[in-house]
Amino acid sequence: MEQERYLFVETHGCQMNDSDSGKITSLMSACNYRTTSDIGKADIVILNTCSVRDKAEHKVYSYLGTLKSYKERNPNLIIGVGGCVAQQEGERLLKRVPHLDIVFGTHNIHKLPELVSQVRRNKERVAETRFYENGLDIFPAPVFGSSSNSLKGLVNVMLGCDNFCSYCVVPYVRGREISRPSAGIVKEIEGLVSSGVKEVTLIGQNVNSYGRGLDEGTDFPTLLRKVNGINGLKRIRFMTSHPKDISDPLISSFGKLDKLCEHLHLPVQSGSDSVLKKMNRSYSSDGYLSRVQALRDLSPGMALTSDIIVGFPGETDEDFDATMGLVEKVRYDAIFSFKFSPRLETKAAGMPDQVNEGLKNERLLVLQERQREISLERNMEYEGKVVEVLVEGGGEKNHERLSGKTRSFKTVKFDGNEELVGELVQVRIEKGYVNSLIGKLV
Ligand code: 5AD
Ligand code: SF4
Repeated sequence: MEQERYLFVETHGCQMNDSDSGKITSLMSACNYRTTSDIGKADIVILNTCSVRDKAEHKVYSYLGTLKSYKERNPNLIIGVGGCVAQQEGERLLKRVPHLDIVFGTHNIHKLPELVSQVRRNKERVAETRFYENGLDIFPAPVFGSSSNSLKGLVNVMLGCDNFCSYCVVPYVRGREISRPSAGIVKEIEGLVSSGVKEVTLIGQNVNSYGRGLDEGTDFPTLLRKVNGINGLKRIRFMTSHPKDISDPLISSFGKLDKLCEHLHLPVQSGSDSVLKKMNRSYSSDGYLSRVQALRDLSPGMALTSDIIVGFPGETDEDFDATMGLVEKVRYDAIFSFKFSPRLETKAAGMPDQVNEGLKNERLLVLQERQREISLERNMEYEGKVVEVLVEGGGEKNHERLSGKTRSFKTVKFDGNEELVGELVQVRIEKGYVNSLIGKLV
C-alpha cells in the first residue's frame, strides 16, 4: 500500500474559499493525503488566496516567503497556490517564487491531483489557470461540491459573477456566472444530511440570479423549495444576494419555507445614490429600502446584515452621511465594513478623486462605532424571548457552556450537556451583547 502523506491548507478570504478548500482536502484525501494542522509535517502545502481587498498579492508573496525554509528542510515538499490571486497572477507567481511548484486557478481545483503527480513525476513546475466558459458540458463536476464540518455544509450552487460592480475583482478572477443543475445540488445535500449535516448554506457570488443559462428553468426560489423538501435537513441559509435581484417570489419564500432561516445578508455597499451609480450597483437607496420593508412586512423578526464600503472614489461628506442615514433606517443586525481598496483591472481603481487613507479611516470608525450601538440594541431586543438554537459545540473553558446559532444567525451561549451538540433546543435569552446572546435552556 502506498504510504500516507500529509496536506496542509491555508485558507484566506470568503466562504467560497472555505468551500474550495473543502474540495481540495476531499480531492487529495482520495489520493491518500491526510489533512494536518502541523505545517512541519506536510508533504504538500496549499495556499488558497483572496484578492477581493487590501494588499492581497503582497500577503501571498510574504506567506510564500515563510515557506522557503520548509522547502529547504524538505526538498520533496510541494507548494501550491490556488484561489483568486493564483487566477490573477498565473505564471508570474512561478517566475517570482522559485520554490513554488503549482499555481492553479479558480476553475482548476479538480486538476490538483493531476498537477501534483506531474510535479512528482516530471520534476516540473506547473501553472493551470484556464477558465471553463462553455457551460456545464465541459465543466467538470468536482469544481462544484460541498464542504462540511459535520453539522453545517457549504454547497456551491453557482460560480462566478456577471455584475461587474466597478470596485470588484471577482468577475475577473472567478469568471462568468455558471449555475449548477439542481438535481446535483439536491443529491449532494441528501448525501450531506445522511452523514449528519443539519444545516446547509447555498453559496454563490450572486445566488439570486441562479438558474440563468440553465435549460431546466429552475430559478432560485424554486431551488430553495426543492432543498426545503429534503428529509432530515433542518435549516437552509444562502449567500450572497444582490439587492437588484431580490424578487417578490424570493421574499415570499421566507414566509413559506419552514427550513429557510430568517436572516438575509443583503450588501448595500453605500447609501448614496451617486456613489451607488458609480459602483454600477443598479439600485437606489430608496429601492433598497423598499425591498427591506417588503422583507420586514412579511417577516418582522428577519435579521439583516450588510457589506458597506467607505471611501469609494469621489465619496463626499454628504455621500457618507447618506450611508449613515441608511444604516439608521435599516438598523442592521451586523455589518462588514471596508475601506475602498483599488483592485487590478477594475474601473474604480482608475476613477478620479480617490479618497485619502486618513479620511477612509475616520469614516470607517464612525460607521463601526454607530453599528456597534445598533447591534447591541438589536441583540438586547432578544432579552426575555425564547429562541431555537442549533447546538454547535462546547465552550473552550467550561465544557458545560454550549454555543450555537439562532435561525437569525445570532450566536447564543448557554449551559448544557455536550450531548446536545447537533440538536435544536429552545433557549431563553437573558442578556444581549454586541456580538452574542447569553441564555438558559428551556
Ligand atoms: N474595496 C473594498 N471593499 C471591497 N469589497 C469588494 N471589493 C472591494 C474593494 N475593492 C467588499 C464589498 C463586497 C465584500 C465581499 O467585499 O463590500 O460585498
Ligand atoms: Fe463583486 Fe458585485 Fe459580483 Fe458581488 S455582485 S461579486 S460585489 S461584482
